[in-house]
Amino acid sequence: MATMTAQGLEILLTREQIAERVRQMGEQISADLAGEKLVMVGVLKGAAPFLSDLARCITVDATFDFVAVKSYGKGSRTSSGAVKLIKDLDEPIEGKNVLIVEDILDTGLTLTYLRKIFLQHHPKSLRIAALLDKPSRRLEKIEADYAGFSIPNLFVVGYGMDYSERYRNLPDICLMPPDTL
Ligand code: IMP
Ligand code: MG
Repeated sequence: MATMTAQGLEILLTREQIAERVRQMGEQISADLAGEKLVMVGVLKGAAPFLSDLARCITVDATFDFVAVKSYGKGSRTSSGAVKLIKDLDEPIEGKNVLIVEDILDTGLTLTYLRKIFLQHHPKSLRIAALLDKPSRRLEKIEADYAGFSIPNLFVVGYGMDYSERYRNLPDICLMPPDTL
């Protein structure tokens, strides 16, 4: 039988699996950016726990910034249609190594939009780290440079990810039963 949380949700990825994968991603990013400085840009709100853990597994000199986006026509499930920036970067990224940190790469609309506007600021480099990847849902041609776990077309919550703003604080990544969506 699948392991359940106190809320009765089935666990897809345990906190231990997440921690191990985040550690590996941090090692890889540190190796790729050895000797460089890095600006980690978290996409609010879902990426906050991932950024926080990933940053502590990165050994290069790093600073944080945050953006927030809104998708038009957004249901409780996922993004659809146009994306709008509702909180911009605090500091200029021109000439800097930027790592966009996102919880999940789904249709790709959000990261395609962010990549386009960030590139207009001429960073030295621009990379994407996404903890989860749902390749089967992609509408835009975009891949993460660092992807934690590839998952099928399932709706997940926990470790930052929400269903109508709930469950972000669950330490494990859990499945929302399709009949509740
Ligand atoms: P995209 O623009 O479709 O790639 O969507 C990315 C955003 O949709 C993520 O940052 C999440 O906020 C949201 N999202 C997509 N799939 C899920 C999911 O399974 N659970 C929770 N949020 C999701
Ligand atoms: Mg998000």
